[in-house]
Amino acid sequence: AAGVAVSVAFAGCGLVGPARVSTVGEVDFDTPLPIPPLAPSTIDADGTRVFSLEAQAGTTEFAPGVESETWGFDGAYLGPTLVADRGERVRVDVANGLDVATIVHWHGMHLPAEMDGGPHQMIDPGGAWSPEWTIDQPAATLWYHPHPHGETEQHVARGLAGMFLVRDDAEAALPLPREYGVDDLPVIVQDAAFTDEGRIESSAQGFAGRLGDELLVNGARGPYAEVHDELVRLRLLNASTARSYAFTWEDGRQSELIATDGGLLEASVALDRVVLSPGERAEVLVRVAPGERLTLQSVMTPDAAGLQPTIAAMNGGTDEFDVLELRAAAELDPAPDVPDRLADLPPVGTEDVVETRTFTLDGFQIDGRQMQLDRIDHSTTVGTTERWRVENASAMPHSFHVHDVQFRIASIDGAAPPPELAGWKDTIFVRPETEYELILRFEDYADPDTPYMYHCHLLWHEDQGMMGQFAVVEPGQRATMTEETDHDH
Ligand code: C2O
Ligand code: CU
Repeated sequence: AAGVAVSVAFAGCGLVGPARVSTVGEVDFDTPLPIPPLAPSTIDADGTRVFSLEAQAGTTEFAPGVESETWGFDGAYLGPTLVADRGERVRVDVANGLDVATIVHWHGMHLPAEMDGGPHQMIDPGGAWSPEWTIDQPAATLWYHPHPHGETEQHVARGLAGMFLVRDDAEAALPLPREYGVDDLPVIVQDAAFTDEGRIESSAQGFAGRLGDELLVNGARGPYAEVHDELVRLRLLNASTARSYAFTWEDGRQSELIATDGGLLEASVALDRVVLSPGERAEVLVRVAPGERLTLQSVMTPDAAGLQPTIAAMNGGTDEFDVLELRAAAELDPAPDVPDRLADLPPVGTEDVVETRTFTLDGFQIDGRQMQLDRIDHSTTVGTTERWRVENASAMPHSFHVHDVQFRIASIDGAAPPPELAGWKDTIFVRPETEYELILRFEDYADPDTPYMYHCHLLWHEDQGMMGQFAVVEPGQRATMTEETDHDH
């Protein structure tokens, strides 16, 4: 059945997507990079840091004088950046000002399932929801976006997304750029399609999902950022619905990758290209020279995508974009060397594994079935470590995201992961016909009634049901809503 689904997708939608896209050399870089504002917060009587966010409908001018209908948090497009410290108790008062139900998921956050903002916590139009939890994970670039079952692609594409930065003492002690919007830039990358007048429109539906032929960075087309420091930190977030990127600098200089989804790597890794599938983040450092202009591009080759060329073309996989221009001031503040050692990561934990599960991605299904809200597919025991074998049995790339935990990759097709994939991850790019071995530790928050999700983060695939549910339970317990065909073994 899964095979049929794939060929229908290939024949039905594959060729509708753009075959090849290039904006290289065509982008003027005449708009200053918008920096999402820092979300204000207050500290309530018991010390909780309280934020508020409202999902709103509005209009955005992507081209001068042309209004597009968009959605945003506390504004018309995207949302403010939340910042909190490890150890802090936080609450977010979320209001839904849309005329449809939505919800906010805290992507990458370790928190109780009821606070996770999955499809079980929907907020009605005009309604509100106030999740509250204690931040208990290393400094990292996390993000937030809606998760309504079957409609996530549309909600994110309309503009509902923002960053959530976790800070901690260990990261703060390192000589790294961290002045938000100055030498530490949020870079939220999305592809979009526009009419000739410049109105945003629903993009072509390839079998990957919605693909645009232009990029928005923090909601702007072709932006530039003025920088005054030798060393600049970019927090790259692929908030696109379907497209993956391979970020490179136009002149071939390398990026120093310092952090992945869940926080710092043990040591920085010099890379020619940084590949991010939807949902993934990377923190990179780049060194600039006085007065220069430097362009960040994405050059996604079939090789970077792990694809056969024909499939890459059908997927929009062979494509290149101008992303962002850095304009260095004539005089730059000097920066210290990047420290050799960034963080001490615990061992991957393969010896601690008490349970192994397999997840097969094929068609728009995981393990030959589609997500059902009233079925919990797996029960994992609190305080234990598991191995999840994720295998892509199809010829098309997918991704795999797990809520609640930051995991480590133990192997890819049996080999150790490259250094850029050896740190904390919550979302991975899953190449065709490739097997990934993930090691996950389920700490805290047992709740047999409320599941977390795992899914493909190509949002159209997620919306098609390429998703499943797991609940963290006490030893000997099983999740409610578990059916006899429970895949535990
Ligand atoms: Cu970023 Cu379940 O999602
Ligand atoms: Cu997928």
